[in-house]
Amino acid sequence: MTADLFDGLEAAGPAREPLAPGAMLLRGFARPQETELISAIEAITAQAPFRRMVTPGGHQMSVAMTNCGPVGWVTDRSGYRYDARDPDSGQPWPAMPPLLRQLAEQAATDAGFAAFAPDACLINRYEPGARMSLHQDRDEQDLGAPIVSVSFGLPATFLFGGLKRTDKTQRHRLVHGDVVVWGGPARLAFHGVGPLADGEHAQLGRQRVNLTFRRAR
Ligand code: SIN
Ligand code: FE2
Repeated sequence: MTADLFDGLEAAGPAREPLAPGAMLLRGFARPQETELISAIEAITAQAPFRRMVTPGGHQMSVAMTNCGPVGWVTDRSGYRYDARDPDSGQPWPAMPPLLRQLAEQAATDAGFAAFAPDACLINRYEPGARMSLHQDRDEQDLGAPIVSVSFGLPATFLFGGLKRTDKTQRHRLVHGDVVVWGGPARLAFHGVGPLADGEHAQLGRQRVNLTFRRAR
């Protein structure tokens, strides 16, 4: 009886979609607090603006990035690392707002990873055409903690593969408010984002903003 009431919602897609052992897509998980979350992101990017960093190989990334939290992920000619300071300003990264941290902790718990305590939140901005090639998140000391990835703005194609670069990749369309969590046996899964298609999002305009929470240290 109760299940019937939810048939309409189920038809629109289940709220939780297991992607692989240790990996879960939580549809619309961030929607209830979207307004407050977007304001919090805007406050962070006013203090630590988005910038397109350079890889150790000398390529400028198409995705623009910034961070909040005790440490932030950075890349330059000398390598990838976590740094307590914004290299552009020399200042500590903006604090991680409790609202953001709680969202990540709750998503991790819902996906089966209790007691997630992120100390890093990488904020990625994709403009039309920007993409992120297949990679593993392996710059963190604690691979026991999951990755929590929150998407806002324009839809993107998320590529989710296996532990080998050559493993087959699944493609999932991520929309505003979707959250993906991967950890445990999926912690080192290869993942990436296809070139962002142009469009106009009601709240964020011509961009996608992704937050990636990690336990780095
Ligand atoms: C990342 O792997 O850091 C970003 C993933 C995404 O933008 O969805
Ligand atoms: Fe990643």
